[in-house]
Amino acid sequence: MVTVSRRIDEAPEIYTLELGAKNEGKSGQFYMLSVQGVGEAPISVASGFGRNLIFTIRSIGSVTSRAMGEGRIGVRGPYGSKWPWKEYNEIVAVAGGIGIPPIRSLIEEMIDAKREGDIELMYGARSPSDIVYKKEINEWMKSVDVHLTVDRGDDRWNGKVGFVPTLLKDSHFSRKAAMFVIGPPLMMKNTVKEAVSLGYREDRIFISLERRMECGIGVCGHCNVGHRYACEDGPIFNYSEVMTEPELFL
Ligand SMILES: Cc1cc2nc3c(=O)[nH]c(=O)nc-3n(C[C@H](O)[C@H](O)[C@H](O)COP(=O)(O)OP(=O)(O)OC[C@H]3O[C@@H](n4cnc5c(N)ncnc54)[C@H](O)[C@@H]3O)c2cc1C
Ligand code: FES
Repeated sequence: MVTVSRRIDEAPEIYTLELGAKNEGKSGQFYMLSVQGVGEAPISVASGFGRNLIFTIRSIGSVTSRAMGEGRIGVRGPYGSKWPWKEYNEIVAVAGGIGIPPIRSLIEEMIDAKREGDIELMYGARSPSDIVYKKEINEWMKSVDVHLTVDRGDDRWNGKVGFVPTLLKDSHFSRKAAMFVIGPPLMMKNTVKEAVSLGYREDRIFISLERRMECGIGVCGHCNVGHRYACEDGPIFNYSEVMTEPELFL
């Protein structure tokens, strides 16, 4: 049980919790968060390793909309695979909607390792008010190459309008860069397709598959991706290893 020290409302239905404990997970990993008497939900860690634990949550169902933000919540983990950023010189991180928390964790880790020049962020939200981490993005822009887009603009938006895959051609890195992709299934599917057609290598593309989970530890079989389990072998997978799985982007 860990105390929630701060709650920030990020966007409609999306809030961030800062907890009174350190993150022992690496970017891409997740924790099981629980509300007593209600249940448990897998949530990606949004902060860098060793920083305060941060989670950003979409209020969607029984656990995520109940009592998160007051008092204490149950935290078990970390679980799952991490973004393999240390293996690559250049990383294009592509996030759609509420997929951004594990990318925030990644950016914080790379900033802490003084490698912020080696990552580009491509992030798309439905509308300007759905953009999560506005304050952090402004801060990252001082040292990280950030590309933003929205599906629909508004009177005050003078940035790009269009779907996330349209940002990929704006990368300043070589096509040998690794690409990390996370977001809604259709966004991931179209991003990977565009990346391959632009010349990115399939074995340098990594995707996060946030399957529905029960146990989080490879026991219940709820989260399978072919013969693999998203909770134990994932949620981060090398695209070339799972690309032939039917219904990959469920
Ligand atoms: C590895 C991993 C990391 C995740 N990271 C985050 C995160 O950082 N932030 C975040 O907000 N969410 C994240 N999710 C999704 C989150 O776990 C679910 O939204 C949560 O389990 C819903 O729990 P609930 O009890 O509130 O909803 P429930 O009461 O269980 O369900 C409410 C509704 O949501 C649907 N639903 C539940 N889970 C999912 C799901 N995984 N995909 C699609 N529909 C679902 C149900 O079918 C139902 O219609 C992650 C999921 C995984 C597997
Ligand atoms: S959640 Fe139980 S096997 Fe993955």
